[in-house]
Amino acid sequence: MIFYFSGTGNSKYVAEQIAKITGDEIVSINDKLKQSDTSDINANDKLVFVVPTYSWRIPRVVRDWILKTDFEGTKNAWFVMTCGSEIGNAEKYNKQLCKEKGFVYMGSAQVVMPENYIAMFNSPTQEKIEEIFNKADAEIQKVANLVLENNSFSTPRNNLQDKFMSGPVNMLFYPMFVKAKDFYADDKCTNCGKCVKVCPLNNIEIKNNKPVWNKNCTHCMACISYCPTSAIEYGKKTVGKQRYKCER
Ligand SMILES: Cc1cc2nc3c(=O)[nH]c(=O)nc-3n(C[C@H](O)[C@H](O)[C@H](O)COP(=O)(O)O)c2cc1C
Ligand code: SF4
Ligand code: SF4
Repeated sequence: MIFYFSGTGNSKYVAEQIAKITGDEIVSINDKLKQSDTSDINANDKLVFVVPTYSWRIPRVVRDWILKTDFEGTKNAWFVMTCGSEIGNAEKYNKQLCKEKGFVYMGSAQVVMPENYIAMFNSPTQEKIEEIFNKADAEIQKVANLVLENNSFSTPRNNLQDKFMSGPVNMLFYPMFVKAKDFYADDKCTNCGKCVKVCPLNNIEIKNNKPVWNKNCTHCMACISYCPTSAIEYGKKTVGKQRYKCER
């Protein structure tokens, strides 16, 4: 079974490409989170988790969902982490998670995809996006074949900086940066409800014909990136910036 979590479509795309090669069933963690569904999963075969990298580890909401969910059947687990540049020492924490869950750790692979974190950085130009996808497609094939043949991924780079980013920086990242209070919708909002629909954590509600953000946000960038009129901003950081969503 291939499980994916995705804010702006990159990890969903990668999960779909892997499934084309391995033939495995795809399960959306977005849907599971949206429905607060932690019911038992009967995965008689492999577990492949395809997720974005958030501060050099898998997203906390995904880790927590895996911890709360019982997986029955075979327990070989692979982690495929899409990222804008690197996954750091995510492997250490994926191994720990596997130990806690009783899974056999089969590795963490990095697939570089377009950067989507527009609340902090810029997304790439269209030309650069094409280039990134060409490289990513080759990498996805390699990863999928390893899963198909039941082989482990090779060990990712793990230097001092990687340890620092996935360790202390990740610990500070959530309390310091992952907040919804800077989101707002401007006059371009048509009250279409798309932001409410795409939020995997049900963190947005419409009040007086405008979206309002509550406090349960994981900065997945879905609301701001899928708004059809680009009405959503994150403080001043996103004004005038190109929105990114995977269009493959
Ligand atoms: C909250 C947040 C944190 C991120 N942290 C990292 C990171 O530590 N390293 C990295 O290379 N990319 C990082 N990115 C970029 C995403 O991992 C990358 O664009 C990913 O492919 C997005 O996948 P999605 O479209 O499936 O959500 C971050 C993005 C977000 C939204
Ligand atoms: S997606 Fe955009 S236009 Fe639609 S309700 Fe949300 S902010 Fe308004
Ligand atoms: S509020 Fe927006 S950024 Fe936060 S979790 Fe929901 S969709 Fe993602």
